[in-house]
Amino acid sequence: MEKYEALLAQMTLEQKVALVSGRDFWHTVSVAEIGLESMRFSDGPSGVRGEAFDERKPSLSLPSASALSATWNRELAGRYGQAAASEAIDKQVDALLGPTINLHRSPLGGRHFEAYSEDPVLTGEISAAYVRGVQSLGVSACPKHYISNDSETDRHTVDAIVDEKTLHELYLRPFQITIEKSNPWMIMSSYNKVNGHFMHASPLLDDPLRRKWSFEGVVVSDWTAVRSVESAASEQDLAMPGPFTPWNESLAAEIRAGRIAEEALDRKVLRTLKLADRVGKLGTETVKSPVPVSTRESLALEVATEGAVLLKNNGVLPLSGGTSVAISGDSAKRTRYQGGGSAQVLTKPVASPLDAISERADVSYAIGAEVVNGCVTYSEKQMTNPRTGGPGVAITFKDASGKVVRSDERFGTFLIFDSEPGFEPAKLEVEFDLDVSDADKPDYAMGVGTANRFELWVDDEKILERDEYVVYHDLAEAILQPREEGIKFELNGRKQLRVKAIIFDPGIKEAYNTMSVMVGEVARNDDPEDLIARAVAEAKESEVAVVVVGTNSAVESEGFDRETITLPGHQEELVRAVAAVNQNTVVVVNAGSPVDMPWRDDVAAILVTWFGGQYAAEALGAVLFGDAEPAGRLPTSWVMSDEGSPLSTTPIAGKLHYTEGLDIGYRALAVSGKEVDFPIGAGIGYGKWSIGFAEMSSDQTRVVATLNNSSEISSKGLAMVFASKSDSKFVRPKEWLVGFARTESVVGETEVLVDMDTDYLKVFEGGEWVLEPGDYQLRVTLNFAESGKLLTLSV
Ligand code: BGC
Repeated sequence: MEKYEALLAQMTLEQKVALVSGRDFWHTVSVAEIGLESMRFSDGPSGVRGEAFDERKPSLSLPSASALSATWNRELAGRYGQAAASEAIDKQVDALLGPTINLHRSPLGGRHFEAYSEDPVLTGEISAAYVRGVQSLGVSACPKHYISNDSETDRHTVDAIVDEKTLHELYLRPFQITIEKSNPWMIMSSYNKVNGHFMHASPLLDDPLRRKWSFEGVVVSDWTAVRSVESAASEQDLAMPGPFTPWNESLAAEIRAGRIAEEALDRKVLRTLKLADRVGKLGTETVKSPVPVSTRESLALEVATEGAVLLKNNGVLPLSGGTSVAISGDSAKRTRYQGGGSAQVLTKPVASPLDAISERADVSYAIGAEVVNGCVTYSEKQMTNPRTGGPGVAITFKDASGKVVRSDERFGTFLIFDSEPGFEPAKLEVEFDLDVSDADKPDYAMGVGTANRFELWVDDEKILERDEYVVYHDLAEAILQPREEGIKFELNGRKQLRVKAIIFDPGIKEAYNTMSVMVGEVARNDDPEDLIARAVAEAKESEVAVVVVGTNSAVESEGFDRETITLPGHQEELVRAVAAVNQNTVVVVNAGSPVDMPWRDDVAAILVTWFGGQYAAEALGAVLFGDAEPAGRLPTSWVMSDEGSPLSTTPIAGKLHYTEGLDIGYRALAVSGKEVDFPIGAGIGYGKWSIGFAEMSSDQTRVVATLNNSSEISSKGLAMVFASKSDSKFVRPKEWLVGFARTESVVGETEVLVDMDTDYLKVFEGGEWVLEPGDYQLRVTLNFAESGKLLTLSV
């Protein structure tokens, strides 16, 4: 720290205050006098957006967190971190705002797709591997959101009431494991309160974070979370985004008046200088070496296949090439390959499941049920720019007098315009001009999403307008999910439409003078019975039916929770109707979190592909046709609504009580004795696995087990070890995960070694972790539901 202290001594109070507040949305300030450059931060956990949300500088979309954790593969998570860091390096990003390591407390949590598991050990192990991967390339990771931001309802104000033991054994645990095993250079504090204290000023930032865990990195606030100057006395280091933060406004005056100690500020500055040094922004010339783009792309494909979970297969999969396949489902064409909110990135054009299956089989397609809710923006190939005659859209900015101040040619229709020196889009009027060609339909549905006033014109006719601004309370929602409105109109034989969307000034202040607009197709709301009947007719004629079901951005996204785990729209009816006419019905689930599957006994196969990232479709094609194994296992128990009700995420009088204590997910199942079809670890791949024997190594540091794949298809197994302690004098979960290991892809018998970390046997009692002596029962199993082999570990 001496080096940083010398630099600190050269800084003025104003420079120090400015450093701990952002310069703008994504940067810290530079201080030339001490050789400090500005640092750039960027979301997010599954791809790197970079400074601009701009399709001309596309990002690689990696499979979402729940797909990564479904691989149960630390080594893969490490390479995933390196791929993410490489994207960051290409976009001159110094710190990645991820991974998200809140827990899957309830399947209703809106950002479930962005987090790893209901289990703290699986979450912590995958997260630590990811962070090591990111930081090995000189980019900072930033595990988030510390703490108890396990759901989204009222996330800016909710007070999570969690007892100390539960907090430490469940929700703090992944952060602790990540810090111990990977030393992240940053973490992000959350918006919410825990036990009465806002997290940006919580005592939990001091203890356990700084004191017990010796975390010496930077705590950055979630965006706009810092709300008071008093919070500067806490262990929060950096208030983002800047520059309009309460610290920037009055911290210098508070310090001068003696109301806040300057040492508190100095601690923040020292840690921020250290971060800058680590990422090469403090006078050190650092050369960062990204992994090649081709390696990142194949990693994205590998995670999507390894994380796909085959929950059921009566033998219909893998399919043979050339089979006749009736495909249905909105998500087969308009797949969701990433979740909504700050995790979103803009990618190169992405293939659909329909494209991927069509390459290998003789297919027909019927939508069957509409899922889309909100604008589906146009891809480059769907539109023509009238100004250039080439693909894309013409964008024109005009000032209040109607004078054109800037013109852009763009290639997507979800655009976010940030302020730049000399250019304030939120004070301008912006026009989208495009020609959209459409197939033979009698009518068409399209709309606009924005917080601003707008008009939508088609072929010189104004078809829709909004004359008021939408007021938002959530920054991410205002920018990334602006309210959309749409309309259906007759095409009257037209095959090409000239579309003009005019968005009026001013932008919303809350969104930092950013203007965000989407133009695209909206749900057509066609007759549901008719849609199903058409899909059924196709399914009857084919050897196999593939129904791709999923969630949409209106139900599964950042900023709000789901109200139900039921699939949106008429998808359940679609699956039942198709399954009734085709006994080879394969259901592909395109969702980041558990969905209800009341039709699970009626179908031949169920494959969960999550939000599989940019190569989700290619991965699906590969696993359906057996070129790769869907090797994933559920990282979180999927409890159907006929098997139990999800924990509520709705606060009561501003408080969300975690009254279930330690019993979430499989821990609750262990207590209730309830058997569910798809608990944590469920997934069968293409092998046929059993456990041969299992024993403790003589030094008791690992479990040695043999797993046998008796099928003829090469497959990857997973061994999980759950512990229990029936004679414990402490309150404990009935069973809890203490280790796991994957095999290579093999036929026949193979050995796995599962490390036993005695830290994972500890309980949090009386303010500290305690390793209770005595015998622990271990169950070595293929998934939570299998009985497995029993062993004893003595401490
Ligand atoms: C999210 C964070 C994200 C930040 C910056 C917030 O709304 O909760 O996860 O990193 O925005 O985009």
